[in-house]
Amino acid sequence: MELKQIRIGSDNFSYIIYSKKNNLAAIVDPGFEPEKTIKFIINNNLTLIYIIITHHHSDHSYGLNSVKKYYPKVKVIASKEDEEKIDVDIDIFVNDGDKLKIDEINLEFILTPGHTPGGICIIVDDKVILTGDTLFIGDCGRTDLPGGDLHIMYYTLKNKIMTLSDSLIVYPGHDYGDKPYDILGNLKPNLMILIDDIRKSL
Ligand SMILES: [Fe+2]
Repeated sequence: MELKQIRIGSDNFSYIIYSKKNNLAAIVDPGFEPEKTIKFIINNNLTLIYIIITHHHSDHSYGLNSVKKYYPKVKVIASKEDEEKIDVDIDIFVNDGDKLKIDEINLEFILTPGHTPGGICIIVDDKVILTGDTLFIGDCGRTDLPGGDLHIMYYTLKNKIMTLSDSLIVYPGHDYGDKPYDILGNLKPNLMILIDDIRKSL
């Protein structure tokens, strides 16, 4: 499994998950500056088969149309909740625990509402988790935007994120931390404090 983290806009990340076996690839969150992501695909001779949207916010989906113009056969993957909020047809709706393969790479989707109702995280080969705006390095996503819900975020963090393996490497949707990625085990102590603070405020 290969993973490329691409910094876009002021502090967002797009990702490319790809296999060197048959050069198949997926983009996660084609937000701003989609040309950067497309350039990587072209330069590495990859065939783009999926675009995965962690949630509908424009800084994660702005480049969707541009990428689809280059790759009209690509399949768009998102949660059912985001169907009306993304102006491109979604080809594959993911449910909690759904799995998908890119060559030998195993993807597992988990629904992680809270920042938005349709937020998802993607676990890759049980080694990496792409967390969108659910979890950053040192913080979680805000819940004060339309559709955000602190109560639901609490359950997502406590019952889903905290139960995942410490060894997973967290790749967030924004570069908000002191490093661009980290293992979940390093983030859990602060996350426990954050969860407790949320519980007290509910
Ligand atoms: Fe967001």
